[in-house]
Amino acid sequence: MRKLTAGLFMAAAMMTATVASAADPIVVKFSHVVAENTPKGQLANKFRDLVNERLAGKVLVEVYPSSQLYGDNKVLEAMLLGDVQIAGPSLSKFSKYTKKLQVFDLPFLFKDLAAVDKFQQGPVGQKLLMSMKKKGIIGLGYNHGGMKQLSANKPLRTPADAEGLKFRIMTSDILSAQFEAVGATPLKKPFSEVFTLLQTKAIDGQENHWPNIYSKKFFEVQDYVTQSDHGVLDYLIVTSTEFWDSLPDDIRTEMKKAMDEAIAFGNKVAYDQAIEVRKKVEASGRTKVIDLTPEERAQWVEAMKPVWAKFEGEIGKDIIDAAVASNM
Ligand code: SIN
Repeated sequence: MRKLTAGLFMAAAMMTATVASAADPIVVKFSHVVAENTPKGQLANKFRDLVNERLAGKVLVEVYPSSQLYGDNKVLEAMLLGDVQIAGPSLSKFSKYTKKLQVFDLPFLFKDLAAVDKFQQGPVGQKLLMSMKKKGIIGLGYNHGGMKQLSANKPLRTPADAEGLKFRIMTSDILSAQFEAVGATPLKKPFSEVFTLLQTKAIDGQENHWPNIYSKKFFEVQDYVTQSDHGVLDYLIVTSTEFWDSLPDDIRTEMKKAMDEAIAFGNKVAYDQAIEVRKKVEASGRTKVIDLTPEERAQWVEAMKPVWAKFEGEIGKDIIDAAVASNM
């Protein structure tokens, strides 16, 4: 009798647990490395707010900014293991999974963000969203960060000024080749370490878009920022195939809709901040912003553009040609 009562009790407890877990919302962890006031930070928060309102009780999005959960070099592995469901690494951080996205790192490829947009939204850009599907990664959409600027503790007007300097770069062989092309030393380091490396003068400079230069206070520890617009630092918002396919159809559709809206919102922030944030940095008086003359800029183009040829085989000429055409 005692055995029977214990059995009934256990069965009742198991049923309660099943009912409770069926009612639990699907928890979606969105991990990124930047500050919340940047384009990507605002996209993530917008996505969280939209989903948590529209799918209340069914899905719960939690955002972890500023490398609180994972740095960019670990987040994709964490996502494939199911510890994180959404991430947004910069397009420079996927080369372990596909070489094709390296196209975005080619120096002086895009003349501005509008050209980047045209390429990303065109057939080739859209196809690249699925370039890692076989590795278990799906691209949900692109997010602009902004065009990259160079900063250092000395004025950078021509490539000769960068010679012999140490620059922090993201984990990209193209960015490495880009700095080697001007006689500088590139160092691949995580984003979370950049401020300290600059502050302690372990490195001389770095490249980034205005929102990161501002929000992570790089301008406070760099005497000069050159508006070089020499490349783009954008993001791919990704999820794992396993997670995405496991979602009920109606929830997946609603989440994709929310993501499209959040991306549009984040991209608008990127366009606005490219102008506003530069003004704030200049107004701070903590650094001097340098604008290049057309002749000075032409020297950077001449020095860095030969890097394209070295990576054409890995990326694909068709992809590079489509990107070039987006400038027209
Ligand atoms: C980011 O904006 O996500 C990080 C960029 C970097 O590593 O410089």
